[in-house]
Amino acid sequence: MTQSAPQGVVLQVCPLLESLEQALATHHDTVRLAEQPDPSAYLAEHGHEVVAAVTSARVGVSDELMDALPKLRAIVHFGVGYETTDVARARARGIDVSNTPDVLTDCVADLAVGALIDVLRRLAAADRYVRRGEWTPGGYPLSAKVSGKRVGILGLGRIGRAIARRLEGFDAELSYHSRNPVEGVPYRYAASPVELAEGADVLVIATSGGAATRGLVGADVLAALGPDGYLVNIARGSVVDEPALVSALTEGRIAGAALDVFADEPNVPAPLLGLDSVLLLPHIASATRETREAMGELTFRNLHTFLTEGRLVTPVPEVAGS
Ligand code: 8YV
Repeated sequence: MTQSAPQGVVLQVCPLLESLEQALATHHDTVRLAEQPDPSAYLAEHGHEVVAAVTSARVGVSDELMDALPKLRAIVHFGVGYETTDVARARARGIDVSNTPDVLTDCVADLAVGALIDVLRRLAAADRYVRRGEWTPGGYPLSAKVSGKRVGILGLGRIGRAIARRLEGFDAELSYHSRNPVEGVPYRYAASPVELAEGADVLVIATSGGAATRGLVGADVLAALGPDGYLVNIARGSVVDEPALVSALTEGRIAGAALDVFADEPNVPAPLLGLDSVLLLPHIASATRETREAMGELTFRNLHTFLTEGRLVTPVPEVAGS
């Protein structure tokens, strides 16, 4: 939706990339909520002055915060995900919402492939073995081959497709599941997550988060993946039934997992900490200097264009996508 350019305060909801914070402070009348001595008192007194909120994909804008900002017209997310904000609720109130698609696709896909290689070849675990001084003439236990594997991708949006393209270079046999078959892609469509897992050696989760995908990968999907199967998750922890995943891994009912995301970050389930079959990463898929700067620039461009022209550069789609 396009409207006249609103005038007022920009609310920075949470800490953001330093260069983005600087740009916000330099070019707009920006208030950092977290730096207010009493954020609730600030909102009660000045909430009506705020016309735009800048937040991260992880924090979003809660219903409570939205209600405290009666003149809010735009929610600008740093990150591709926006499941932390109720977009339907925002739209019903005439609030536009943006995210930062495309600029992080390469880095997230690169990390997914790196994590896949790591967990099959046990790179981080082998590194720990060398550092512990355990390298003997007998050598490290054998791992699993990557090239030629059957890889199922759950969610064939921009990121899923970028992962698939990279895996073509590893002669992977690619299949996918998404709400609907995607036209013009050479990969096999599986009708359900279970069917996808049944036909895959590695299941890569690349779907968006939020209510629509919550618990999509449950005990049934993990059973279909089987004791020789691996899970890679660079999407959201909420997509996986985490307790089911922890039992499957500790009981060896799947072979391993590479996880960049968790249900309750930064808390990682304790039983996973001692497993060499699991790669644990602290949500770093987009965390390169180049990509974070590009995300910051796009976030700023969304805000600036909204405040000067009354429109967002990359509004979120009507139907959630990755
Ligand atoms: C960021 C992400 O780690 O873009 C997303 O949705 O999950 C990541 O790129 C984070 O959300 C930045 O706030």
